[in-house]
Amino acid sequence: MCGIVGYIGDKRAYPILIKGLSRLEYRGYDSAGVALLEPGEDIKVYKRQGKVIDLTEFVNGSSTSGTIGIGHTRWATHGLPNDVNAHPHSSGDGKITLVHNGIIENYAILKKELVNRGRVFKSETDTEVLVHLIEDVKSKSGVSLVEAVRIALNRVHGAYAIVVISSDDPNKIIAAKKSSPLVIGMGEDEYYLASDATPIVEYTKNVVYLEDEQIAIIDRHNGLRIISIGNQEVSPYVQELEMQLEELEKGGYEHFMLKEIYEQPHAIKDSFRGRLNAKEGWVSLGGIKDYEEQIAKSDRIIIIACGTSWHAALVAEYYFEDLARIPVEVEYASEFRYRNPIIRKNDVVIAISQSGETADTLAALKMAKEQGATLIGIVNVVGSTISRVTDAGSYTHAGPEIGVASTKAFTTQLVLLAMMALSLGKRRGTITDEKFSLLLNELEALPMKIEKLLESDSYIKGVSAIYKDARNALYLGRGTSFPIALEGALKLKEISYIHAEGYPAAEMKHGPIALIDENMPVFVIATQGENYVKVVSNIQEVKARKGKLIAIVTKGDTTVREMADHVIEIPMSHEFVVPILATIPFQLISYHIAVMRNCNVDQPRNLAKSVTVE
Ligand code: AGP
Repeated sequence: MCGIVGYIGDKRAYPILIKGLSRLEYRGYDSAGVALLEPGEDIKVYKRQGKVIDLTEFVNGSSTSGTIGIGHTRWATHGLPNDVNAHPHSSGDGKITLVHNGIIENYAILKKELVNRGRVFKSETDTEVLVHLIEDVKSKSGVSLVEAVRIALNRVHGAYAIVVISSDDPNKIIAAKKSSPLVIGMGEDEYYLASDATPIVEYTKNVVYLEDEQIAIIDRHNGLRIISIGNQEVSPYVQELEMQLEELEKGGYEHFMLKEIYEQPHAIKDSFRGRLNAKEGWVSLGGIKDYEEQIAKSDRIIIIACGTSWHAALVAEYYFEDLARIPVEVEYASEFRYRNPIIRKNDVVIAISQSGETADTLAALKMAKEQGATLIGIVNVVGSTISRVTDAGSYTHAGPEIGVASTKAFTTQLVLLAMMALSLGKRRGTITDEKFSLLLNELEALPMKIEKLLESDSYIKGVSAIYKDARNALYLGRGTSFPIALEGALKLKEISYIHAEGYPAAEMKHGPIALIDENMPVFVIATQGENYVKVVSNIQEVKARKGKLIAIVTKGDTTVREMADHVIEIPMSHEFVVPILATIPFQLISYHIAVMRNCNVDQPRNLAKSVTVE
């Protein structure tokens, strides 16, 4: 949460910072700000409540000179989202300015100490403590800015990625991180800093991912140097970015979310590339190959995740237990990390995360590591923290997902987990050759089937229009369709602000059935398979209470069609891939309803794409 950028070089920093902030706006959009520095001048700070566009309107007409700059787009943790609390924050004398992503947990104690020493605070943020602390250390000890940053960070508890500039040291940018991400782009005599690589990719493909408790000192004349907060020299490890610039544009779609829904056939193909071949009868995940034997022999798999990724974990529980016969436990990372769980050496912990930066997932992984578990990551963002702290892992290869609502990241997580379960099942001998081959073919056919399904979009839009004013909605499914019901409900509430609940269809009569009346839309997954007859009974229970029924059915279904108000057909498929296919209509329904309700689809209120605070 919160996006930070920085630039030092020969160019004007302001346009680079603004473009970078727009790319990072998915991380938070309560307020935005920049600070600009030109040697010999004072630092200029502009900040504003609202989005990056509001900041640019505010700045319009003011001086934006400066070849050094830092910027921030905020998701408020401490203090209201207003102009004063917006970043950057400056020291009392205005000479030091910084931006911060994370939370300073001991800010209250530090603030008290600094106030007692006469420092005057302007904002309610935890961040402001950092800049006063750096100023305090510097003025008291007479040390350099870098040393003051280092000493200050040694006093701080919590998470931070910071970028600091000072008018007394006008040819330097200092950056540091702990638990919040920070990437440094290495150009020709110029450097870019950002929370992720998206603001950097159009300038350079050479990047350094700063590690926890490292400080980067970037000097206009002497280049990049990295030290630890313990003052040890570190050699920068330069990596090459794989990301393409076009992947970050809307490409003619009205919203990123719609683009990302439509990208799913392609994204899934990318997920399969080099990993699955149904004709030759093999599946192989290179990233975890060396650990597969250990996973196959593990006593238990624990899957940790948050939000949509947690829904993918629930589907994986069915996949792994059914196909590989390994016991699985699925946990919310935020609960797992705080409940003193029993983790044994022979447990494998799989973390699922689109961003690879979710604070709770990361902390849960670290805890599992300390207790000796093997860690596997299923991550989308290449080079993200989770991909680096795990022992091994596989990227979903969905490409950058900009819309806050997760779409293609989710379906590629499902295909990756399905491949993993098949591979483990084959290795353990818990799946027959016939079934293995059948399911490989089912997976491989998915991109084509999703293309077909997307052809129903205008029909789905029509159905969505009927329910756009609903105040509540129920989503029902059984088996692997239950997590998809949860995901459908989450998608609707997060972007259209309609209250929605997902339930296992049979659980409905243990409570939620009391809510059903003629105003309640009930979305149900009623595709052919083992649970079909049971779901049909649940549908009858809904109809008996006059609920409005929107059913996802297998193409050609007539039984449910007679009972439902609307049916959305998915191509005939094995139940194994139904969760992936059934997700698509729910994504489209949420999208269309949100657009019809004039909601900000790509940046829903109060949310951020990367939840880097707990
Ligand atoms: C889903 O649409 C949300 N964006 C959210 O629930 C998300 O899945 C969750 O925050 C987890 O994020 P991660 O996959 O990046 O760890």
